[in-house]
Amino acid sequence: MSTHETVETFAPDPDFAAQANARAEDYERASADRLAFWDEQARRLDWSTEWSEVLDWSDAPVAKWYVGGTLNTAYNCVDRHVEAGNGDRVALHWVGEPTDDARDITYAQLKDEVSRTANYLSSLGLVAGDRVAIYMPLLPETYIAMLACARLGLTHSVVFAGFSAQALRSRVDDAEAKVVITADGQFRRGKPAPLKDGVDEALGDSLDSVSGPAESVQKVLVVRRTGIDVDWQSDRDVWWDEVIPEQSADHTPEAFDSEHPLFVLYTSGTTGKPKGIIHTTGGYLTQASYTHHVVFDHKPGEDVYWCTADVGWVTGHTYGVYGPLSNGATCMVYEGTPNSPDEHRHFQIIEKYGVSIYYAAPTLIRTFMKWGRQIPAGHDLSSIRLLGSVGEPINPEAWRWYRDHVGGSAVPVVDTWWQTETGAIMISPLPGVTAAKPGSAMRPLPGIDVSIVDGDAREVAAEDQGYLVITEPWPAMLRGIWGDMERYRDTYWSRFAEEGYYFAGDGAKWDADGDLWVLGRVDDVMNISGHRISTSEVESALVGHDAVAEAAVVGAADDTTGQAIVAYVILRESADDSEERHRALIDELRAAVSRDISPIAKPRDITVVPELPKTRSGKIMRRLLKDMAEGREGGDTSTLSDPTIIDQIKSKGVKG
Ligand code: WT7
Repeated sequence: MSTHETVETFAPDPDFAAQANARAEDYERASADRLAFWDEQARRLDWSTEWSEVLDWSDAPVAKWYVGGTLNTAYNCVDRHVEAGNGDRVALHWVGEPTDDARDITYAQLKDEVSRTANYLSSLGLVAGDRVAIYMPLLPETYIAMLACARLGLTHSVVFAGFSAQALRSRVDDAEAKVVITADGQFRRGKPAPLKDGVDEALGDSLDSVSGPAESVQKVLVVRRTGIDVDWQSDRDVWWDEVIPEQSADHTPEAFDSEHPLFVLYTSGTTGKPKGIIHTTGGYLTQASYTHHVVFDHKPGEDVYWCTADVGWVTGHTYGVYGPLSNGATCMVYEGTPNSPDEHRHFQIIEKYGVSIYYAAPTLIRTFMKWGRQIPAGHDLSSIRLLGSVGEPINPEAWRWYRDHVGGSAVPVVDTWWQTETGAIMISPLPGVTAAKPGSAMRPLPGIDVSIVDGDAREVAAEDQGYLVITEPWPAMLRGIWGDMERYRDTYWSRFAEEGYYFAGDGAKWDADGDLWVLGRVDDVMNISGHRISTSEVESALVGHDAVAEAAVVGAADDTTGQAIVAYVILRESADDSEERHRALIDELRAAVSRDISPIAKPRDITVVPELPKTRSGKIMRRLLKDMAEGREGGDTSTLSDPTIIDQIKSKGVKG
């Protein structure tokens, strides 16, 4: 199968390379002695007790990193920067969704607020190891709450505030959270929306409760954000502003074992209930901190760093909170949506605050493309010196658009592959060191070992697709699934049990230069008449057409070919919205895919749709598209950002 375009390679810029945090020899050093390399990286943090052994893998697949070492995460993310004389540095440039709403918080202020909150939480009788659920919009208090938990060794479980009461309840129950921290409401698209109501519903004390009272929860701490009316249970609910400010700002952090659980974060699996992914302290923080330092080439005191992910996702945990703060970063935190009040918002923020490092998801980049290049062009974005992408394979077209129109065409773009389970970035170019190719995640980071194998664990040849596996344990790896170690072994370690490989669930290939391309989830790899074609490859070809803004492709069962390719596309805005034009475009698109990839990759069906079914985190729900393509009714649409999408596609879609 031919690749659909000539791949450009961008060599590292020599000026950038001269100043870069990463060095070419890091790769060799790490491969010569992986554990010595990770020993060295752990020393970037402040430990109270040194470890006796870097890794204990004797109980595989449960790892112990930095055995016997002790440290405090909040001390590493906050106090040590104040002690080093950087208390006046801004830790958080927080911007609310309403345009007149912003607060800067220095490291010294953050230390005081985290200490006050820690003092309050311990006054409730909470002790290390207890769980706290955090169900909040992106507020300074969200950061403070997470860090206060970390300071006390309380294991936090952040639940994305866009999730339903039902989802919150199942997570509260699963982890038996003793406290829920929330807000009265949140601003969404210019309007206050209730949040505390959802907590009441989840915890079982309102009329529309999801089930009886949640037994584990003793307190609900509520941040006053919008001023909207809330129901109140005076024995359980407390206003943040009535209890936190009166606490002492002195708090001595205690050091915890390297393997103390820092957080649980729920993520959906292929089946059944969400998995509570467990991350611990020393290994997680080591890799979060190291990767943030080298992949984003972060320079404390100089850069303004913006990770656009919500803290409800792992990206928000590792690159919104723990990675950057451990490195003393000045972080941009924006509460709202990118088009509130209009499509200029992100670019206005970049311009106003001089954001220099910007990390976003391909779906957002493609949304920017749909809005048009004139939006970023209206702003001075010259402060940007590095761009990152995460969450799904980025199509070369979006990669180039991002670099040209947000990065001013000369900046490094890092396509970072990782997962909730890996805790931190695993595969990415190193800016200044590794060349970049639009669409390729390039190389595993120093200290990370991966392979691409077939079903029998044999390494595949260049250009052949295979399963992405991680062949050696890594510091930020998940330590298990909350309450279900069986499922942990089963999901990740049973597929290649003999070899002891971690099964990532993604397909990938090496190209002829030895660079790595992530091709999407293996369940998204289609088999057409015995030919393996990745959904993302076809999507890339479709999006490569000028008229297309976004595309999603699924493999649907087909009597003749095994699977057939079914595509759904959103067009860029155009004056001519007629059915005739859509039909003509469908023919053009089929020809373009056939030309760009191969006639085998030609979609059987292409439907022009007004919108794609997406989760609230912006992931396209291919499962629902597959159901539709295979004529099945009534898939679970409860996690869609807009549950009416499927009906809209059925009624308004133009299929050819
Ligand atoms: C899955 C993990 C890790 C933060 C956000 C998602 C896909 C992630 C990339 C990338 C291609 C990517 C994979 C992975 N993915 N980053 N740079 N290129 N695919 O975390 O929700 O745990 O999802 O996202 O399929 O397995 P997640």
